[in-house]
Amino acid sequence: MRIDVVTIFPEFFDSPLRASLLGRAGERGLLDVAFHDLRDHTHDRHRTVDDEPYGGGAGMVMKPEPWFEAVESIRGDEPVRTVLFCPTGRVLTQAYAWELAEESRLLLMCGRYEGVDERVRSLATDEVSIGDYVLAGGESAALVLIEVVSRLLPGVLGNEESTVEESFSQGLLEYPHYTRPAEFRGLDVPEILRSGDHEAVAEWRRHQALERTLRRRPDLLAEAVLSPEDRRVLGELLDRLSEERRETEDHQGSVL
Ligand code: 6GU
Repeated sequence: MRIDVVTIFPEFFDSPLRASLLGRAGERGLLDVAFHDLRDHTHDRHRTVDDEPYGGGAGMVMKPEPWFEAVESIRGDEPVRTVLFCPTGRVLTQAYAWELAEESRLLLMCGRYEGVDERVRSLATDEVSIGDYVLAGGESAALVLIEVVSRLLPGVLGNEESTVEESFSQGLLEYPHYTRPAEFRGLDVPEILRSGDHEAVAEWRRHQALERTLRRRPDLLAEAVLSPEDRRVLGELLDRLSEERRETEDHQGSVL
């Protein structure tokens, strides 16, 4: 995959992209990321990329001309999936990342928080946010997207199965993992994982994934892929959870 990034801070990406997974993907020719300085597409002495907002108010707005010149020169005549990062965009999820990983090219536009001229949006096919909080600019969102998407590309990870099995890919949080020692500071590895019974292990893991998701991110269950057995297990867990909640309320009642 080829990814072009347009930013006023190309140096922001230097070390994260050399390190770890992304560096290796680059060396192996699976991923080719290029950074473009938006200021190289200005034509004044001060390399100006922003200006005062029409209608007044605080903060500056990024000018349209450098964005249009940069994006058009990078895309040429190709229809390239073009992402503008902004807090009002479509929230990046694992499913959305799989969709983007299908593309042969991506063009990422890192705007700053205060905003870009509204006409710049027309260059983008997608507007992306990485969550409900405010960043100073799109650069760290672009890093997140590059990491999330590139590890889904064939050959980037050692084990292809792991991206399908992990959290969110099936719509559930992951089950707990353990390695040696079997006992550590009084904390034991669950007996079943050492039993050698693969079927029982698989069942335990599924149960754990369901319970974790129910307790920590019940919102995910609406979209999860669930078997009839999963639904039965969730029913039991729900009964147990409401029993626990009643007990806590009783306890609080007796304290108050
Ligand atoms: Cl993509 N940009 C900014 N400025 N803030 C964000 C964001 C993006 N995603 C979450 N917050």
